[in-house]
Amino acid sequence: MDEAQILWQIPAPLLQWYDGGARVLPWRSQPAPYRVWVSEIMLQQTRVEAATPYFERFMEAFPDILSLAQAPEQRLLKLWEGLGYYNRARNLQKAAQIVAEQYGGQLPSQPDELQKLPGIGEYSAGAIASIAYGRRVPAVDGNVLRVCSRLLCSADDIASHAVKKRFRRLIAEIMPSDRPGDFNQALMELGAVVCLPNGVPLCGQCPLAELCQGRRQGMEQSLPVKAAKKPRKKQPRTLFLLWDGSRILLRQRPNRGLLSSLWEFPGCDGRLNAAQARQALEQGGVQAGDLEPLGEYVHLFTHVEWQMTAYWAVCSPFPAPAGCAWVAPDQLRQDYPLPSAFRRVCAAAMLHMDQADF
Ligand code: ADE
Repeated sequence: MDEAQILWQIPAPLLQWYDGGARVLPWRSQPAPYRVWVSEIMLQQTRVEAATPYFERFMEAFPDILSLAQAPEQRLLKLWEGLGYYNRARNLQKAAQIVAEQYGGQLPSQPDELQKLPGIGEYSAGAIASIAYGRRVPAVDGNVLRVCSRLLCSADDIASHAVKKRFRRLIAEIMPSDRPGDFNQALMELGAVVCLPNGVPLCGQCPLAELCQGRRQGMEQSLPVKAAKKPRKKQPRTLFLLWDGSRILLRQRPNRGLLSSLWEFPGCDGRLNAAQARQALEQGGVQAGDLEPLGEYVHLFTHVEWQMTAYWAVCSPFPAPAGCAWVAPDQLRQDYPLPSAFRRVCAAAMLHMDQADF
């Protein structure tokens, strides 16, 4: 069988399988354009299970495009806290403002118009146009690339643009015109729950197993081929959890770059021992009592790895330096977006504050 012969046989069994057992997800049950859009942005770098509760809270807080456009940024970021890739949230809001001002509050339906909006690339535009508006446009994400690579037993590198383009063209050819959104979601679903990454796919449950050339040739576990990423750059850092008896000092990150505008515990580059840490604080004009080690924490970002050494330090109150704020534990919980990188150290600090329920 050549590629075209295989691919033309996909839609019928795939859609039948999708109809029989696809996960019930909130943006599927009510696929209004705004909901589909928000879900696709959340799902860009986040798994369905992790994104779903965020989606529900987001819809409650911002039920429509206008409320999102007008939201205070810190509230938006607080709602996004823990999902990571915070530029997704900022771009979503910028795009909502553009849609409110230039499109009369209606999300456009053509993929090329969608792609003009911040945060919407070729994949998301295809997903929104097909799922929310029934347009016949492919939406090829990492899951779909893996499915294609195995189905066709292709040893091409799925990180390459040319390969993505080729798979997108092939999918575009075979998409049924009556159910393009379901077809795209069925392919993604198959990748997410059956044609699993990093190991053994569940071929026994696959509606396309009979067609799968990768499986026929015993290659299903070694495909897809994907070029290795550069190793992450390691960055040692030292954090100071300064406590004045009722509040902790937070610092807002610069409004550009990694975790921009979010809050963090103040600190400096490098791995300092307790004596060096005390000296660094004194140089910054902070007189603290004993420094107590709060542990070592590693956090992985896409390109860098933070290796954090944290100290708990009780100090007398002093005016918050520029860009910093003294924050009571409840305020930290409710109002200040703190990235996941600090979640564990924050929990350790909360124990010190006698608030073990953080
Ligand atoms: N990943 C991205 N979009 C998705 C969707 N609509 N359903 C399942 N997984 C997805």
